[in-house]
Amino acid sequence: MKHLLGLKNVSATEIQEILDEAFRMKREVLEGSKKDNCLSGKSVITLFFENSTRTRLSFELASKYLGATAANIAASGSSVAKGETLIDTAKTIDQMAADAIIIRHSSSGAPHLIAEYTNASIINAGDGMNEHPTQALLDMMTMQEKKGSLKGLRVAIVGDVKHSRVARSNIYGLKAMGADVVLAGPSTLMPAELERLGVPAYYDVEKAIQGADVVMGLRIQLERQKKGLFPSVREYHKYFGVNEARMQLAAPDAILMHPGPVNRGVELSADIIDGDRSVIGEQVTNGVCVRMAVLNLLAGNKK
Ligand code: CP
Repeated sequence: MKHLLGLKNVSATEIQEILDEAFRMKREVLEGSKKDNCLSGKSVITLFFENSTRTRLSFELASKYLGATAANIAASGSSVAKGETLIDTAKTIDQMAADAIIIRHSSSGAPHLIAEYTNASIINAGDGMNEHPTQALLDMMTMQEKKGSLKGLRVAIVGDVKHSRVARSNIYGLKAMGADVVLAGPSTLMPAELERLGVPAYYDVEKAIQGADVVMGLRIQLERQKKGLFPSVREYHKYFGVNEARMQLAAPDAILMHPGPVNRGVELSADIIDGDRSVIGEQVTNGVCVRMAVLNLLAGNKK
């Protein structure tokens, strides 16, 4: 694999290879000296057209922990603001002999487009409403760490599925790994392509959470919504928010996940975000490990 553009066509074997490498990174680097030189002499550029804290910083740290030279460019401070096209920007970065370009863009398919014009490996850090593959990989790593095998695991994904690239990548990845995924949320926030995704959807959040091993809340993406998809944030929380009473319906040892950033008191009640079942902090840590693994494996494949 030269690029990581999505998980739609990635096999269980390939996903497990990335997760195994991420667990190795966690043991050897993050729990050790935070220094490895396996990417020494390589350069990694992050190109972000949308805001980010976790993804951007973890890719930058991952590159540095592995000895690569890392540099950031944000759309607002770049020549994109002067009218340069995405393809010309990508070609310009490529001319500087970048080995990997990590891109986040509001348009679905932007990483796939630049992959056709660059020699560098392209990693999708979130494209529109399409995919966010490294988020799903870190989610699967966290589930495997907490629950063992993903096969047969019941995973309830709750919230704004329609606008969620995190949900799409998780559905593709978890299905490949043999997990049972169910969706829940208001009908206005369910994707049109439900049948193609091949997972059941409930409009009653309690039915979806019943017996779940993993409950994953999704952020309400106010920036991608037309008005009127739900009456108010307060009503959304009442009918679709995950709270302690609803978590009681899940398996006794169920874990609570969220990709972040969380709208506290909207998709999750404030008490459970910091509660015993929450693994939201571990997801962030595992994000660094997964991104180290992806950078290392793509560099290895290039060799
Ligand atoms: N989960 C996620 O993508 O977070 P950021 O937007 O902070 O990168």
